[in-house]
Amino acid sequence: MPLPLVIDTDTAQDDCVALLAGLLDPRADLRAITMVAGNVGFERQVRNAFLTLNAAGRLGEVPVHLGCRHPLMRPWVGAENVHGDGVGGLAMDDSGHAPEAEHGVDALVRLAAEHPGELAVVAIGPLTNIAAAVLRDPDFVRNVGRLYVMGGSNNGRGNITAAAEFNFYVDPEAAKAVFAAGFEVTVVPWDPLTLRQAVFGRDELDAIAALDTPLSAFFTRVCAATLEFDRSVGIDGTTHPDSLAVALLLHPELVRRTGAYHVDVETAGELTRGYAAMSWGVHGLDANADVVEEIDARGFFDYLAHLLATPTAPNRPMWTPDGPLTT
Ligand code: RIB
Ligand code: CA
Repeated sequence: MPLPLVIDTDTAQDDCVALLAGLLDPRADLRAITMVAGNVGFERQVRNAFLTLNAAGRLGEVPVHLGCRHPLMRPWVGAENVHGDGVGGLAMDDSGHAPEAEHGVDALVRLAAEHPGELAVVAIGPLTNIAAAVLRDPDFVRNVGRLYVMGGSNNGRGNITAAAEFNFYVDPEAAKAVFAAGFEVTVVPWDPLTLRQAVFGRDELDAIAALDTPLSAFFTRVCAATLEFDRSVGIDGTTHPDSLAVALLLHPELVRRTGAYHVDVETAGELTRGYAAMSWGVHGLDANADVVEEIDARGFFDYLAHLLATPTAPNRPMWTPDGPLTT
């Protein structure tokens, strides 16, 4: 029985790949995509989500809901320096489709109530919508079956600052509230997990390009700007924390090891805004999260490569500044 799923996203680069997994994996029943302020401009993220639906041949089949357009208490901080527009300049005819009228937070609350204890939520952007849903409905935490969060680092380096990973940095108050709310939550962190086991280097990227499918061309295009940034900061490849979060939810056999941690997020620090303190049981703090510590990296790559080899037909043609997107 496919798993009812909502992906809460700040759609850019690997968020697009994560949506492809939710759209194409037979184990997933993607009920909604909810948008949260994060990577790139909000409207741009919405267009990126529709482009991804289109690339998967699913345009119009999965509702897109607009969530919070800025963090709970702070101005929005983006990552356009990392991702550009998030899709390598891809465009398509935007007519004939639009986001739902229902707010993303209301959609999260409604879908969780419709599937009490079953709905899986994968949060791959700042946690603003998730925190707002907790405030909106006292039953939301109990109604959500599993919450997977891409964010923080497990006693490792940040990315937007030395201390903080981007998703938790953008809305630290939301992240703090989510980890205090009582969810059954699994965390997919930036460092060490993503940096050690979910970076695709030259050989993997060449293997994906050689698939020569519409999805592999889409993947290469949406990852282009981020790859250039990654190499500029010493990461020799594309990073895939968001698609990893969806893959691990749907394929727990890819998880090699997790640890029980108490996760809390810094909101008062100047240098440490958004830092995720992950205590491993020797600090007298009860665990509130499972943090993924090791995965089957080859299995994860093979999973995504298999997905990108799917012979889909985009609903509409897409083009780049250099011309039509061709396989
Ligand atoms: O820090 C990694 C997270 O922020 C991912 O969700 C990715 O989308 C990046 O922007
Ligand atoms: Ca993201």
